[in-house]
Amino acid sequence: MARLTIKNVSKTFGASHAVRDFSLDVEDGELVCLLGPSGSGKSTLLRMIGGFETPTGGSILIDAKDVTALPPERRPTGMVFQSHALWTHMDVFNNIAFGLKLRRLPKSEIKERVEGALTLVGLAEYGKRMTTQLSGGQQQRVALARSLVLEPKILLLDEPFASLDQHLRERLREEVRDIQQRLGITTLFVTHGQDEALALADRIVVMRDGGTEQIAPPDVVYREPQTEFVAGFIGSMNFIRTSICGGKSQHPAFPVSVPIDDGDVVLALRPEAVSLRASSSFSTAIIHRSIDFGTHKIVDIDLADGTRLKAMTAPDSNWARGMGVEPVARVFRAYRDNKLVHQSAATPEHNHDRILGNV
Ligand SMILES: Nc1ncnc2c1ncn2[C@@H]1O[C@H](COP(=O)(O)OP(=O)(O)OP(=O)(O)O)[C@@H](O)[C@H]1O
Ligand SMILES: [Mg+2]
Repeated sequence: MARLTIKNVSKTFGASHAVRDFSLDVEDGELVCLLGPSGSGKSTLLRMIGGFETPTGGSILIDAKDVTALPPERRPTGMVFQSHALWTHMDVFNNIAFGLKLRRLPKSEIKERVEGALTLVGLAEYGKRMTTQLSGGQQQRVALARSLVLEPKILLLDEPFASLDQHLRERLREEVRDIQQRLGITTLFVTHGQDEALALADRIVVMRDGGTEQIAPPDVVYREPQTEFVAGFIGSMNFIRTSICGGKSQHPAFPVSVPIDDGDVVLALRPEAVSLRASSSFSTAIIHRSIDFGTHKIVDIDLADGTRLKAMTAPDSNWARGMGVEPVARVFRAYRDNKLVHQSAATPEHNHDRILGNV
């Protein structure tokens, strides 16, 4: 049981800022995902929490105790690294037992705890295997067990499943979530997979250039992205560049009301928030193609100005290449200088009946 506080932490390497003035409170038992593009500072931040990197400024507290200057082995943290390194000359049991031996625990307790950890990650029968004889997914689980066996108060996971195929990754992340909830371990999970963050997290921290763009629960990040960057990073999004004059967008295909000062804006709308109407005119938009995903179709539409939009439609819709169409934005947001400046009336974007073709 532990609470993590990160206060104004920064890290520079020479002239480059890997992490900038980063602050975050992680509650006891909470799972927070750090999400961001490559190079946004996720690993650096995690390594500072684990004690593998020293902050240039700021402090890190665990249960109100300042751990900023403590080495990794004196922190109540366990870390699974981005490139997990198991010892190939040891069997699974000894890989997991290693940290406990360093702590000079009695042999019988080591055995009991290693067996417990193996059972927890579903590898009860694998103690005697060499790690080279395991599949990628099994190796990831051993790396996880090696951290869990030390009973950390805080678990730090740096893209633990990045190298695995989609199915295995989904299964393992569900297992991690179950284990994490069962043990109530405060967890920070780094990923650059937005699906992973949406599926796992109590809260998501969206990082960019070492700073935070937004910190919120998954549904809020998805429905109320506070910056254009977040809007484009999480889920699928259409962007339309337009200018506002007298509270109205000047884009011919989207003459929507946007009650803000005159000037350029970017309208953002999700595929599920775009409705399509047949149009005999080809001047607004033309269907480029329609892709059938079974549960729904994604229709690509070319606007007259060359912008391509995606619309989600019912699986039995008949939109076909070359048809003239009029796209209608049911829900949209407007961004200026990366900041949210307007959100249209909060009707649900995802009209299931419409998508499923019941309307
Ligand atoms: N030891 C180091 N020396 C110099 N620069 C570093 C060092 N470690 C990281 N950086 C730089 O700090 C920035 C953040 O790196 P970091 O590894 O934290 O990114 P990341 O978000 O984990 O990226 P990825 O998704 O690719 O793993 C990058 O620009 C990186 O080049
Ligand atoms: Mg990284």
